[in-house]
Amino acid sequence: MQTADRLKKIPPYLFMTLRNKINEAKARGVDVISLAIGDPVEPTPQPVIDALTKAANDPANHPYPTDEEWGMLAFREAVARWYQRRYAVELDAKKEICALIGSKEGCHHFAMAVINPGDTVLVTDPGYPGYKPGVWFVDATPYPVPMEGANNFLPKLEDIPTDVAKKACAFFLNYPNNPTGAVATREFLNGLVAFARDNGIVVCYDNPYSEVVFGVERLSFLQIPGAKDVGIELNSLSKPYNMTGWRIGMACGNRDIVGAIATSKANTDSGIFNAIQYAGIAALDRCDDYIGEMLTIYGGRRDKLIATLRELGWTYDPPKGTFYLWVPAPKGYTSAEFCDLMLEKCAVVIAPGAAYGKHGEGYVRFSLTVKDDRLDEALQRMRDHLPKFAFD
Ligand SMILES: Cc1ncc(COP(=O)(O)O)c(C=O)c1O
Repeated sequence: MQTADRLKKIPPYLFMTLRNKINEAKARGVDVISLAIGDPVEPTPQPVIDALTKAANDPANHPYPTDEEWGMLAFREAVARWYQRRYAVELDAKKEICALIGSKEGCHHFAMAVINPGDTVLVTDPGYPGYKPGVWFVDATPYPVPMEGANNFLPKLEDIPTDVAKKACAFFLNYPNNPTGAVATREFLNGLVAFARDNGIVVCYDNPYSEVVFGVERLSFLQIPGAKDVGIELNSLSKPYNMTGWRIGMACGNRDIVGAIATSKANTDSGIFNAIQYAGIAALDRCDDYIGEMLTIYGGRRDKLIATLRELGWTYDPPKGTFYLWVPAPKGYTSAEFCDLMLEKCAVVIAPGAAYGKHGEGYVRFSLTVKDDRLDEALQRMRDHLPKFAFD
């Protein structure tokens, strides 16, 4: 049976590979603990569940969603209120916001909406695995932009060759960053806006971890003067409100790009179930306190993991964002070899940095989205079964 050639470019999705690894170990009777995947284990806030239940019981919400390609205006207005309250960003709910089935979906529609066949697209390396497939789907070529520890995992825009910058049409990046946990600074974002403007590049600033920061300010790309002229921000209810399974997010910013995304969506899906959009409104309007609680939980887990890593020889500065810890692999181990050691000795699964791109080699990623008792057990196993490591 014929399948499209474009699919042949796409490597197996990292998390499917990790899930297979976990399932294989479980099938062998191993009590495996996954610190690999970033999927919150705490429940969705009750006001969100209540709003869904109420809206699902209303037959008015059962037909195709209203305003299908942009999302319900009431949801978009809640997004505008949220951006105003949390980031002091002004958005026109009618023209500058489109509801998404998650930020991941937004990456795909951004590619459909902005990129032409044969284009060059800048993608950070290491990078979120959801970016490159969208680029390949539209027959364009991703150009990896290195992010290195020496520059706090921020790309050095001045090191991108001029001819590449001139021919690139778009740039995918995200801070607080998955996988490195790095956060952006206003200075970097100002430079990004100038770089995009000077080179005619459309920025897809993917910001689903905007709320997950420790001791630094929350930042939206859209706070930066000129940002709306050069790009959009994707955001999501998945991570701040433990709503990964609900599939709801938003594309905001440049009205031409947001409109183009809405056109791509109108010809792909028929919108998000109204009841989920009502639940989304409850999250955005009424659940700020839950974000604080979530940060306390992740902060506690972070401290415990950092303490165990230090006991085992790591001496590194933990990043300030996301619920991941991006950690150098010990001397003598590739990222995959260290992950294998963790599985073999501790029955703990973590993600190899190399899976996020060439520049991810030499690192592994721990996720803090696991119940506290399971994290404690994983850390105990690490202390019991791993030696003290050396680092360069
Ligand atoms: C950088 C980044 N972008 C997008 C997503 C997908 O988020 P959503 O659940 O909103 O599709 C993730 C999920 O892990 C992510 O890490």
